[in-house]
Amino acid sequence: MKTYYSNLIDNNRKWVSEKLNQDSDFFNKLAHGQKPPVLWIGCADSRVPANEITGTQPGEMFVHRNIANMVIHTDMNMLSVLDYAVNVLDVKHVIVCGHYGCGGVLAAMDTKEYGLIDNWIRHIKDVYRLHRHELDSIEDMKERANRFVEINVIEQVADLSKTSIIKNAWKNGKDTQIHGWVYDIKNGLIQELDEQIKF
Ligand code: CO
Repeated sequence: MKTYYSNLIDNNRKWVSEKLNQDSDFFNKLAHGQKPPVLWIGCADSRVPANEITGTQPGEMFVHRNIANMVIHTDMNMLSVLDYAVNVLDVKHVIVCGHYGCGGVLAAMDTKEYGLIDNWIRHIKDVYRLHRHELDSIEDMKERANRFVEINVIEQVADLSKTSIIKNAWKNGKDTQIHGWVYDIKNGLIQELDEQIKF
């Protein structure tokens, strides 16, 4: 009997043969190493798969994901990914991608306790506090949550620009470009917020 789990392995075998049909050298080329042009910092949400929504292939995106696509200056995991991406892989673009309906962002709008994750959500609540006037003035709660998602991305990009890694890259003349995006789960579309971001 096929289980959901065993389908995963079957699907992998199908995917391998499809890739090999298209390009018999596909895996040989990837085995030589990676030179991705993009670092993706996104939400861990299962509905926002970096490669799939951007039409990119293995080898094109270095990926870091956490709850609510946060850039926290003491997060060694994120910093290590960022340092490796910028200084070793020499990515040209770093994209922070949030998404409407983000559970982490929604959780930061209420006062419920969720357990350990409250410590992570604390950082998102700090973003709300910084933008309280704008957010509190939006009466429709859905609209308010959507704007909070956008503002959170803008703040994470600003924090990204203030990491020692990005500051040093720019000081040393690298043209690493950083971007803020929001993905709409309801229609699959990405919106660029770059024009709203000031460094
Ligand atoms: Co999310």
